[in-house]
Amino acid sequence: MDRSKNIRHLIVVSVLVIISTALVLLLLENSSLVPDPASTQAGPIDWLMAWHVRVIAFLFSLIVVFMLYSLVVFRRRKGDDGDGAHFEGNTKLEIIWTVIPLITVLVFAYFGARSLNEVTAAAPEALEVDVTAQRYAWFFDYPELGIKNSPEMIVPVDRPLVLNITSIDVIHNFWVPEFRVKQDAVPGLIRELRIKPNVIGEYMIRCDELCGVLHHAMLATVRVVEPAEFDAWVAEQVAAAAAGPQLSEAAQRGQELTVNNGCTACHNVSGEPGGIGPTWKGLFGSEVQLADGGSVTADEDYIRSSIVNPNDQIHTGYPPGVMPQNYTDLFSEDQINDIVEYIRALTDEEQAAVAP
Ligand code: CUA
Repeated sequence: MDRSKNIRHLIVVSVLVIISTALVLLLLENSSLVPDPASTQAGPIDWLMAWHVRVIAFLFSLIVVFMLYSLVVFRRRKGDDGDGAHFEGNTKLEIIWTVIPLITVLVFAYFGARSLNEVTAAAPEALEVDVTAQRYAWFFDYPELGIKNSPEMIVPVDRPLVLNITSIDVIHNFWVPEFRVKQDAVPGLIRELRIKPNVIGEYMIRCDELCGVLHHAMLATVRVVEPAEFDAWVAEQVAAAAAGPQLSEAAQRGQELTVNNGCTACHNVSGEPGGIGPTWKGLFGSEVQLADGGSVTADEDYIRSSIVNPNDQIHTGYPPGVMPQNYTDLFSEDQINDIVEYIRALTDEEQAAVAP
C-alpha cells in the first residue's frame, strides 16, 4: 500500500469521525438525560457534565468509526488466502495514545476537584435540616426552629441549606435530581450535604440506594417556597406542636418511642391515606380487613400482636414483610404497652373532638 493511499484513508476516516461526533453530540444534547436544574450546585456540575459528553461523543466516534471503516474497507476479498502483514510495535503511536488520554484525565481531575470545592463550600448563614432515612420514608427536623418529624421538606428559595443526613436502619441515599447532588444516609453516621435551591417549585426526593422491597416507593416531597411562605409554615408548625394533644403519661412515652424508632415514618398519625403502613388515627376499635379475606377488631390484642408478629394478620392492601420483625428485642413488655396506649389515645382523642 503506498503512502498517498494511506493518507487518503486517514482523511476519509477523520471526516467521518468529525461527522459522527457532531451527530452523537446532537443526539445526547437533545435527549434530556436530566431534569431542569433547580440549585446553584447544578451550575458547575452541569458544566462539567457537558464537557464530559463532548469528550465521550468524540471518543465513541474515534473508536467506532475506525473499527467499522476497517471492517468494511480492509475486509478479506474473494480468493485472498494470504496472511495479513505483520506489524510489531509503533513507539510514536503508543506515546501519543498514552499521553493524550493522560492529559485529558488530568484536566478533568483538576476541573472535577474545582467543582467539588464549589459544590461543597460552607455557607455561614445556612439553614440546618436534619434528614433521617428509614425503610421506606424520610423525615425532617429543623433543630434551630424546633420543628420535629416533618414528613415533607419545606425550604425557602435562595437560602443555602446544610442537610445532616443519617439513617436508622440500612444505607439509603438522599437524591433530588433537580438539585444534582446526592448523599448516602448511613446508620450511625451523620453526613453533610449542601444545597442552595434557586427555583421555586415542588420536587421529589428519591432513595438512590437499593434498600429493600419498597426501595422504589421511598419518596418524599421537597417544596421550595418564597421566604414569607416558609416563615408562615414554621409559625404554623410551632403553634401546632405547642397545642398538641393532651396525652396520658403512658401514651406520651409511647409517642416518644414511636417517633424515636421511626414508626411514624410509615404509620402517620394524621389519618391521611397512602402511607407505607396503615395510619394510626382512628385505627383503634375499627374493623380491619385482612388480606386472607377475614376481618378483626383492632383492639389491644390485635395491635400488640401486629407489633410483635407483624406478618401474622396482614392488613389488606399493605405488602407483608415490610414491617421489621425485631420489636420484641427492641422494646420491653411495658414499652409495647405504652405504644398500644398511644395508638388507643390517637383514636380516643379524635372521638372526644367529634363528641358534642
Ligand atoms: Cu431507601 Cu432505597
